[in-house]
Amino acid sequence: MRLLDAIKSSSDYLEKSGVEDSLVDAELLALHAAGIDRLRAYMDNPEIDRRLSSKINRLMKRRAGGEPLQYIIGQVDFLGLRIRVGKGVLIPRPETELLVQEAIKTVKRNELWVMGKEKNSSRITHYASRSFLDLCTGSGCIALALAKEFPGARIYGTDVSARAIKYAKGNADYNGIKNVMFLKGSLFGPAKEHIAFDLITANPPYIPTPDIAGLQREIKDWEPVEALNGGKDGLDFYRKILSKGRGYLKEHGCILLELGFGQSEDVREIARGSGFKNISVKKDFAGIDRILEAEG
Ligand SMILES: C[S@@+](CC[C@H](N)C(=O)[O-])C[C@H]1O[C@@H](n2cnc3c(N)ncnc32)[C@H](O)[C@@H]1O
Repeated sequence: MRLLDAIKSSSDYLEKSGVEDSLVDAELLALHAAGIDRLRAYMDNPEIDRRLSSKINRLMKRRAGGEPLQYIIGQVDFLGLRIRVGKGVLIPRPETELLVQEAIKTVKRNELWVMGKEKNSSRITHYASRSFLDLCTGSGCIALALAKEFPGARIYGTDVSARAIKYAKGNADYNGIKNVMFLKGSLFGPAKEHIAFDLITANPPYIPTPDIAGLQREIKDWEPVEALNGGKDGLDFYRKILSKGRGYLKEHGCILLELGFGQSEDVREIARGSGFKNISVKKDFAGIDRILEAEG
């Protein structure tokens, strides 16, 4: 059998098993199993031996059973970083890349503010005195992307899940990133000694508990529930983070939070009530209010 035939029959099998993007998934899994890129596959359409054929079948069975594609492949691309993922850690989503992009803009803008204040200073800044905190860090994707962008800054990432912290540390090594430290513990707990940060980011669990049962099987049966569950109304973590956040920010420090669908007004209100100012919300590519930014 040739590779393209295997992709076609795998796609039919995945479709029958209820996988939405069956052709895309069949193709990605078969290419992953064969260890070749798409261009070569379509130009050469190589013959596949029995070993490769059963390897492809094993991967397709896992996908047909609802396991997310990213867990099977074992990694995702996140702003040019290769982030390893597997059971017990949330798969980074494209909207979270937006959170990082906004955070980068904020740091650069604030740096201009600092430079402006120190007008007579000719120092060249490499963000050397900056420290950032990423709460609910999971795979470490946000912390690592910030660490890569600001190699002189010190980034801390915290998560209650030992498994997530293990992945995050592994991802730092995998991407050769040194200026990041991952600490196990609840929210600000492990960061207590560091006290003042220039920036706090978080993509917290934000799904209302009653909605979890209605999520796609790839999410509800496979991704860790502690990464999803935001309490009865989905807002528990925003309340906890925003009520304490200002105490951990330096003057002019900012917080950036990823938001769930329809949560922007409530979270804006929580931020306002917690004393934050200059609150703004940015939409994602689907036009959904996705990132809230506020100054401490
Ligand atoms: C929505 S996931 C975000 C993961 C990652 N930051 C991302 O964007 O892909 C939320 C994360 O919060 C963690 N978490 C849950 N409760 C927590 C707590 N009390 N303190 C710190 N992290 C917590 C979960 O383990 C999970 O990794």
